Amino acid sequence: MAARDKPISEEERVFWADIRRQFYLEDGVTFLQGGSVGPSAKPVIEQVVEWLRHVEANPLRNQGGKVMGPLVEAAREKVARFTGASPGNVALVLNTTMGMNVPARGLPLQPGGEVLMSDQEYPSVQRMWEHMSKTQHVLIRKIPLPTPPESPGEIVEAFAAQITSRTQVMVFSHVYCTTGLVAPVRELTALAHDHGAVAVVDGAHAVGMVPVDIEAWGCDFYASSTHKWLLAPKGTGIVYVADPYLSSLPAPILGYNTAPISHARRFDVTGTHDTTHFAGLGAAIDFQQGIGWEDRIRPYCLGLARYLRELVEAEIDGARMTVPPGPEMSGFLTSFAIDGCDLGKIVQIMWKEYRIQIAATGAGGQPVFRISTHFYDSYEDIDRFVDALKTVLATRRDELFEGRE
Ligand SMILES: Cc1ncc(COP(=O)(O)O)c(C=O)c1O
Repeated sequence: MAARDKPISEEERVFWADIRRQFYLEDGVTFLQGGSVGPSAKPVIEQVVEWLRHVEANPLRNQGGKVMGPLVEAAREKVARFTGASPGNVALVLNTTMGMNVPARGLPLQPGGEVLMSDQEYPSVQRMWEHMSKTQHVLIRKIPLPTPPESPGEIVEAFAAQITSRTQVMVFSHVYCTTGLVAPVRELTALAHDHGAVAVVDGAHAVGMVPVDIEAWGCDFYASSTHKWLLAPKGTGIVYVADPYLSSLPAPILGYNTAPISHARRFDVTGTHDTTHFAGLGAAIDFQQGIGWEDRIRPYCLGLARYLRELVEAEIDGARMTVPPGPEMSGFLTSFAIDGCDLGKIVQIMWKEYRIQIAATGAGGQPVFRISTHFYDSYEDIDRFVDALKTVLATRRDELFEGRE
């Protein structure tokens, strides 16, 4: 279809095409859905398999020991360095869900208090706090998140408008899963602290997409799923726990971790479990740092997102962007609405007929497409998606807008 100018050199194109071959992703599949779960690179998986062979030769090796113990601690150190945290404050958990349970189940809430969050927090995060609000008799207050906001200040103002002296906890996302909006964590954390509230940050999408500096921002809790943008093995995540909570807070799952030690390993996955994929988290960071996360990966991915946005704005009739432009408020997730259109149906058509994986979600009461672009994707993948979308919109209008226009 359309031949479009690409803002990268031929040399760069070849470089990223070579990188793509280091993944197991199927040929002929355009994978623009890494926001749900990312593919791990071959060198990472092969390394994990090698460790598995080693531990399966003597299963006791999987419970710490001379090889796996230091590898897991090295992974903790690497992920801590990558996120601006001290290793002793970073727990290795299965995912953001488990990480967010640490403050949700552990923080002592006072009856009559409030928990403040936006209406676009991840549904399971909303549910865990709703559950706790019933058992601890606190009120959940949800602010409507501006979609899209004009400035980071508008996001802070939206929270500031509803925070009160009764607010005990403020829960917000670093990167919103609904639209890809990047929130100003430092300012939101300061707002929470100014009102005596605990700042709980859902960074599920942030690590590997945007710079993260947890301790400089003063967050009390910060959870992330490293199997998303960091492309670590599935079932790896972190939760940062600030000093005041390290030794006192009960972990959501109790066992040996009831001892009041001042180290985040109290909140690690507890009991017997596989350690090789946590070691693989370290390998995943090495893989991205080997390419250059800050110097190469992030600029390339921001370029892909910019190109996608420009193409959608120029070529898709009726598309309305729902994430602000520019690297301060957006990253590698691009979202847009097409009013009156059945986006879920397009997601199915894209996969069944074009082998293109995308997602549709909801943001502020409206359906939106959510397109994830990572460094295994190419500019040609974006062309393929936009061309397919144009064709589908032009040829299936009756089916897509039936009774909706
Ligand atoms: C913002 C946000 N928070 C939390 C989660 C939960 O992540 P996990 O399923 O890895 O626990 C997700 C998953 O997509 C998410 O997008």
